[in-house]
Amino acid sequence: MRSLPAAIAACTVALYVSAIAVGLRVRPAAFYSIYPEAPRARTWHPAPLSGLPAERLATVQYGKLLFEETPLYASGYTGSRISCGSCHLQGGTAPFTAPVIGSAQAYPKFSARAGRRVSLEDRVQECMTRSENGRPLPHDGPEMRALLAYIRWLSEPHPTQAAFAGRGLEPLRALRPDPDHGAAVYAAQCAGCHGANGEGTGPPFPPLWGPQAFNDGAGMNTVEKMAAFVHAAMPQNRKGILSAQDAFDVAAFVHQRPRPSFDHAYDRF
Ligand code: HEC
Ligand code: HEC
Repeated sequence: MRSLPAAIAACTVALYVSAIAVGLRVRPAAFYSIYPEAPRARTWHPAPLSGLPAERLATVQYGKLLFEETPLYASGYTGSRISCGSCHLQGGTAPFTAPVIGSAQAYPKFSARAGRRVSLEDRVQECMTRSENGRPLPHDGPEMRALLAYIRWLSEPHPTQAAFAGRGLEPLRALRPDPDHGAAVYAAQCAGCHGANGEGTGPPFPPLWGPQAFNDGAGMNTVEKMAAFVHAAMPQNRKGILSAQDAFDVAAFVHQRPRPSFDHAYDRF
């Protein structure tokens, strides 16, 4: 019977150790090698808007509108019919679809594309001139100030939440794509919302190629990035049905279609 207290003590220690491990989010590496796509990211609840002073509240709300309906609210500057929120899903808060949570802290940083350190403002201009196929926003104009205010509000660290864990795009191993099979995937799984000719079917369904799409200087204009985005987030109404191979195939098919060229007058972005 002397072993009973020892067993109880051992169980108590084991319980404490696991509680600490859970608290610190220690997870065995083996878990992720068996389930590489297991969700690690947490849902992000931005700081409550109600806590903001009136002027900042109005700017953040305008930024959110600009982000969600860019061709409408920044009509003089966009060339495409795509909103920031068409790629940065759920208002830029969805994990692994290039969320802008944490972007306020990530910039300024060195950009290989620009060959220099770029500010958050420059990074927004990069998406304006490439992903939006548009013109840079006026440097200190209301649109730029509103977008920055929105991104900064989203990026505010939250005392009650763990750090956001889904930055960037889903890491996907590169595969050799088959664009012919991609054409079949497109017709079956994408054309209903994005149109038979990739032209989009009106908001919120954006064009994927053609004159109103993002240009060939955009981040989405690489098969790997589009495949990662599509694998994580498309088809929008049936996420998760595509294999990684299907995602590469359909991205390669989309990349064979024509799209606007990046205007090299904006090379500095
Ligand atoms: C066609 C898709 C698309 C559109 C439209 C788009 N973006 Fe992006 N954006 C991207 C991609 C792809 C990245 C790079 C993600 C990566 O490689 O991690 C990016 C990166 C960014 C980043 C840097 C994120 C970080 O923390 O490194 C910011 C900020 C940003 N975009 C803001 C915007 C804003 C504001 C708009 C609207 C004016 C916009 N984007 C429109 C696709 C898009
Ligand atoms: C049920 C409708 C629907 C289907 C089906 C669908 N999409 Fe989308 N897609 C959307 C919407 C809506 C958005 C804008 C983001 C959002 O609101 O979720 C989007 C955004 C995108 C974007 C980024 C924005 C852009 O214009 O480049 C890409 C790339 C994309 N979809 C590719 C695909 C591919 C490839 C398929 C097929 C495998 C597909 N989608 C199927 C609705 C759909």
